[in-house]
Amino acid sequence: MASKKEEVRRKHIRLHMESALTARDKVGVQDFVLLDAYTSESAFLDNLRKRFSENLIYTYIGTLLVSVNPYQELGIYTVSQMELYQGVNFFELPPHVYAIADNAYRMMCSELNNHFILISGESGAGKTEASKKILQYFAVTCPMTESLQIARDRLLLSNPVLEAFGNAKTLRNDNSSRFGKYMDIQFDFKGIPVGGHIISYLIEKSRVVYQNQGERNFHIFYQLLEGGEEELLAYLGLERDPQLYKYLSQGHCAKESSINDKNDWKTVSNAFSVIDFTEDDLENLYGIIASVLHLGNICFEANQQGCASIPDTHEIKWIAKLLGVNPWVLLEALTHRKIEAKTEEVICPLTLELSAYARDAMAKAVYGRTFTWLVNKINSSLVNKDFTGKTVIGLLDIYGFEVFDKNGFEQFCINYCNEKLQQLLIERTLKAEQAEYEMEGIEWEPIQYFNNKIICDLVEERHKGIISILDEECIRPGPATDLSFLERLEEKVGKHAHFQTRKLAGPKGRKRIGWMEFRLFHYAGEVTYCTKGFLEKNNDLLYRHLKEVLCRSKNRILKECFRVAELENRRRPPTVGTQFKNSLSSLLEILISKEPSYIRCIKPNESKEPSKFDVFLIRHQIKYLGLMEHLRVRRAGFAYRRKYEHFLQRYKSLCPDTWPHWHGPPAEGVERLIKYIGYEPEEYKLGRSKIFIRFPRTLFATEDAFEFSKHQLVARIQAMYKGCLERRAYVRKRQAAIKLEAHWRGALARKEAKRRKWAVQIIRKFIKGFINRNKPLCPDNEEFIVFVRKNYILNLRYHVPENVLDKSWLRPPGLLENMQQKVVTSEIFRGKKEGYAESLNQPFADSRIDEGDINPKVLQLISSEKIQYGIPVIKYDRKGFKTRQRQLILTQKAAYVVELAKIKQKIEYPALKGVSTSSFSDGMLVIHVSPEDNRQKGDAVLQCKHIFEAVTKLVMLAKKENLVNVVQGSLQFYISPGKEGTIVFDTGPEEQIYKDKNGQLTVVSGRVWGGGGVSSFK
Ligand SMILES: Nc1ncnc2c1ncn2[C@@H]1O[C@H](COP(=O)(O)OP(=O)(O)O)[C@@H](O)[C@H]1O
Ligand SMILES: [Mg+2]
Repeated sequence: MASKKEEVRRKHIRLHMESALTARDKVGVQDFVLLDAYTSESAFLDNLRKRFSENLIYTYIGTLLVSVNPYQELGIYTVSQMELYQGVNFFELPPHVYAIADNAYRMMCSELNNHFILISGESGAGKTEASKKILQYFAVTCPMTESLQIARDRLLLSNPVLEAFGNAKTLRNDNSSRFGKYMDIQFDFKGIPVGGHIISYLIEKSRVVYQNQGERNFHIFYQLLEGGEEELLAYLGLERDPQLYKYLSQGHCAKESSINDKNDWKTVSNAFSVIDFTEDDLENLYGIIASVLHLGNICFEANQQGCASIPDTHEIKWIAKLLGVNPWVLLEALTHRKIEAKTEEVICPLTLELSAYARDAMAKAVYGRTFTWLVNKINSSLVNKDFTGKTVIGLLDIYGFEVFDKNGFEQFCINYCNEKLQQLLIERTLKAEQAEYEMEGIEWEPIQYFNNKIICDLVEERHKGIISILDEECIRPGPATDLSFLERLEEKVGKHAHFQTRKLAGPKGRKRIGWMEFRLFHYAGEVTYCTKGFLEKNNDLLYRHLKEVLCRSKNRILKECFRVAELENRRRPPTVGTQFKNSLSSLLEILISKEPSYIRCIKPNESKEPSKFDVFLIRHQIKYLGLMEHLRVRRAGFAYRRKYEHFLQRYKSLCPDTWPHWHGPPAEGVERLIKYIGYEPEEYKLGRSKIFIRFPRTLFATEDAFEFSKHQLVARIQAMYKGCLERRAYVRKRQAAIKLEAHWRGALARKEAKRRKWAVQIIRKFIKGFINRNKPLCPDNEEFIVFVRKNYILNLRYHVPENVLDKSWLRPPGLLENMQQKVVTSEIFRGKKEGYAESLNQPFADSRIDEGDINPKVLQLISSEKIQYGIPVIKYDRKGFKTRQRQLILTQKAAYVVELAKIKQKIEYPALKGVSTSSFSDGMLVIHVSPEDNRQKGDAVLQCKHIFEAVTKLVMLAKKENLVNVVQGSLQFYISPGKEGTIVFDTGPEEQIYKDKNGQLTVVSGRVWGGGGVSSFK
């Protein structure tokens, strides 16, 4: 099951790999590597021509791009073209400069490293155009945020500004870069261009004051005159006509049809506003440009002493105004020289020639430093203040190899620079590549190539090289001249195979070299240099006097360019040659640390004509650009190499054995990996520490497969992550639910507890009420009684008797039985006996004797009759009225007078004849029995505490409620059957009961019957 799935996956990867090989355009081959006769220069040239004739100007050698200048608009730089190349694998589309740019960009983004694109070729071959196309490509295709748009615009617009000031029309190129430019485009981790930095190299200052026939000064001068508004020109004191300015008219071609200075002026003005130039900056800048033009027009005349003077100060005044210097000081500085003697300064006049030299030196210095200021200014507007890690793509567009009829110090520097870049290319491609194969133990047949290091050394070697010799000549005391420099050269490097002079050349070569000239055999061909001006240009001297004037300038830009500190520094500044040498060596350091891409530009003809393919010229370029060697190394070599660790790290997800971790040695992991994805044996080689992949298509196919698997991986990671998020959310919700539940349960429990507490209180109250139900109404029983009453009455409605005769009412609860009894009591006693009213609120008790207090024997005797009521009484003996403690116990059937275990008297209810009490508040009670009943001893004379209660209970049990007699004064009773006695009732201040002298029982009550007097009751 698993293996089947594996198989499908493997197939899928392979399929992807094959889809990478797409149709190529039909004309020739678009990659020289595919050329059958790859060692033949003619075949190479033929392929190039075939393609060029179809306007296919780009061809690859592996990943190197060969570009032929079409000298016409081809319509291949549209936005849709850019989109076409965006994110597409290198070999899937026809060759294009966009593919190089995109490839570098993708690599930078995926590997987070720095790159550079080296564009080389001779002057006019299309380097600057290529670099502009690359910049535009990034500007259009890179992701962008609104806030970074300005950074992008500035990057783009820095170009027209720098070109206006640093480019000029030459014989070779109408827009020739007269300075070297290295530009870093900085990208953040998302691949958004966020900033940039430009380094400029040696601008050709001599052009400011002199141009060869058919050449122009820097564009900006013409642009200003052509495009500047009237007011601006008036403010600068300029006329529109460039012919009026000496510095602009020496080449006799101020107007050039291919150049539209007016439009360019607009572009540049617009660019200035985007790149943060203030009004003030521009005013100062234009002031400087104008004053250079004015300087050129200063004429010197010889006075009587043969010294220079300036008869017309018109220009001087304009310069003084525009640069903010004192005109008279300036005038003096242009015609005099300060010489420092030991203690004082001597001012001596200059000759005509030296004055002109001073003037030109000033123009060059001012222009040169202003250019540097301009680059710095642009840099400060491109700088990205965010210090997070950035990756860069560097673009190197530097002046190309140049050969004119007359070649001076500038061409020497330019061509030296090209030697160095060629050296870099050789080091990075041919040499390093072959060295690597050897090091990695890959079988390899060395390919011969020309290494131009020998020429670089000839120029730059310390103490021995041409630059060192020139420097020595410049500082040497004594009369050093350009000619003496040439002699020195002959002396020191005369034997060098790449060096020649007229003297050293054989009779054949002699004719072609002048007396002042030397010849170098550059990698790109031989160039004859005229030594005239070498010393002067290398020294680049500005008279101290003029320097002082410029240091005091009020022009803000000049103030920044000429620092007073410089005047104080007495050390000799490094010469131009040495400075250039040093800046080149630091440029190479910058480049070496980055991953390279190469574009080799070829110029098809010298006449800037479209569709003209000059075979001789092109063959020459193919040769010196080393394209054939490059092709041979490419063909034999490997397009791609990678350390095992890195290769494995990147592609390990393509093989289950290496994913997610490979624990063995990386080399074995890589082997396992490529077996799994099915590399053919000819596609790769395994070195000591690296894997070498022969064809780019293999790599791109692998990359495609990786891209595909990345989606799956991402989906898995996403799923895990989403799962994790959901789980986390779930746990959070669960915890929240538990918390809520806990709180809710707590709330419920608290409510329940409250309810229970309340219930307990109610129950307790009820129980308390129940316990105290018989007590007089008090807070303890009040509620209970109300409740019982209410309940009874509510119940009553279901038990209403059905007719009038039915006397059976619902039996009331004990407590209310009490009521019934009370009703009976009321009927008997109300208004008749004292103390009744007070007794009303005292509920009747069920009994006044606990059953436990009744003797068990008695209980035994009467238990069958159900005891209904008991109360302690005092019994008065019938005869002597002696008092005895007794219990009166009432049952269902009879009333008993009990003394401890003995029943003293039993009065069965039928035998009860009546009950008598007094009308006073005493507790006397007489139970009358039938006198005829001889079972009875006689009536019972009793006294008790709860008289109303006791009497009521008794008569109710006996059902003889109407037999109660409340007597007034006295009552008769039977002492024994037939024998009567009398009890007399009276009131008095003191309660008393006694037998009076008549043998009658006298009962004296207090006014109100209280407990106090009857203390014998217990
Ligand atoms: N890709 C191109 N398409 C059209 N014209 C081009 C192209 N490349 C160069 N040119 C033409 O050639 C001229 C010189 O090119 P440029 O890039 O300035 O050369 P370089 O910088 O190598 O000296 C340009 O001004 C332009 O007219
Ligand atoms: Mg250029």
